[in-house]
Amino acid sequence: MLLQGRLSLGSDTVVEGARVQQVAILGSTGSIGTSCLSVIRAHASRFSPLVLTAHRRWRELAAQCHEFQPRVAILTGVSPVDIDRSLFPPGVDLRFGPDAVSEVAAHPDVDTVVSGIVGAAGLHGTWAALEAGKRVAFANKETLVVAGPLVMNLVQRSGATLLPVDSEHNAIFQAMQAGRREDVRRVILTASGGPFRDWSTERIDSVTIEQALAHPTWDMGPKITIDSATMMNKALEIIEARWLFDLRVDEIEVVIHPSSIVHSLVEFADGSVLAQMSPPDMRLPIQYALSWPERLEAVGPRMDFTRAFDLRFEPPDPERFPALKLGFEVAEQGGTAGAVLNAANEVAVERFLQKELRFTDIPRLCRSVLEAHTFESEPTLDELLRLDRWARQEALRW
Ligand SMILES: NC(=O)c1ccc[n+]([C@@H]2O[C@H](COP(=O)([O-])OP(=O)(O)OC[C@H]3O[C@@H](n4cnc5c(N)ncnc54)[C@H](OP(=O)(O)O)[C@@H]3O)[C@@H](O)[C@H]2O)c1
Repeated sequence: MLLQGRLSLGSDTVVEGARVQQVAILGSTGSIGTSCLSVIRAHASRFSPLVLTAHRRWRELAAQCHEFQPRVAILTGVSPVDIDRSLFPPGVDLRFGPDAVSEVAAHPDVDTVVSGIVGAAGLHGTWAALEAGKRVAFANKETLVVAGPLVMNLVQRSGATLLPVDSEHNAIFQAMQAGRREDVRRVILTASGGPFRDWSTERIDSVTIEQALAHPTWDMGPKITIDSATMMNKALEIIEARWLFDLRVDEIEVVIHPSSIVHSLVEFADGSVLAQMSPPDMRLPIQYALSWPERLEAVGPRMDFTRAFDLRFEPPDPERFPALKLGFEVAEQGGTAGAVLNAANEVAVERFLQKELRFTDIPRLCRSVLEAHTFESEPTLDELLRLDRWARQEALRW
């Protein structure tokens, strides 16, 4: 692959032919996890879910175990006394706690790890998989926001293969394969603009939880849905793109594209702009991350060109969506800024969902915690984790 050196992807380019890929799905009960299982269901001759993990939704995990018969199932947010073991199939090795996730993510029998846990909680399992040199289908953007340079360095050292699942980054990854990395001039991340794209600042100030959870084009977990509404999701994606593709911040742009059909664009030196298009359905980028460099038959809907449709693009408004500014600033700063922004945002979203904060408080809280922190330009992982805890406390106090 021409891109590999610069993208820091690993060396796993060999299509495995008839061999079934053994997959560990971290966060199998979530939106990414269930979409991933839908891909695996459709391509059962190619992928087998060896490990499934959930946090608290043990009944959903038990149901998945009955259908997919994984070898191991893990619950990280409940203990054995909280669940009814008899609802799980007897052959499944049921384990508990976050350490079990890191252990299985690095197990020699696992070929591919799907990083589908939400928030910084996804970091440990992703890290363990990368350290063990696995192929990682990577949805948990918070890992790169918290520790981008350390993670990319780890990928280089271990020879792991990091394949983006986030639809924008997956689109960029696909488009980049049309040219040489050194000829890329700009990466343009598309954003649906969320449910409040056309709302005035005054209206946005009184947004309710129900309104914020009603995304116009994507059906996702609650945290990323709120992030999309504040446009913090795009901020996190700017930071993710910066580290994943080794871009300067001035090579990254954001454009509002309400129909979510063009998932992102790459501009090359000659002015050619390449886009990746498909209906908004996460099964495609998940499948591509699982099958790359092969392309398997689509599981979801295909583009319908028999009917007229618009591809509208418009510039974003950072005044109404101040989270966007934070994204560019933090991507520029690097160091400890990503870990602090991410932790503050996770707490702010949770507090908004608990009705403790207004919608517009979310970016305000994040900026305030960022400005209060002592910046370090080259932190260790331990320092980042310590700051993550500090930022959560600050965000709770705010
Ligand atoms: N959803 C999308 O379309 C989409 C698109 C692009 C990127 N992403 C990224 O993918 C990740 C997952 O998003 P999602 O929308 O799938 O989230 P989600 O629906 O909320 O699912 C999260 C999954 O992680 C588990 N989990 C939650 N907290 C955990 C913890 N502290 N420790 C271990 N596991 C935990 C959940 O288990 P329980 O079910 O037991 O709570 C669930 O399986 C996020 O980083 C998001 O930004 C998502």
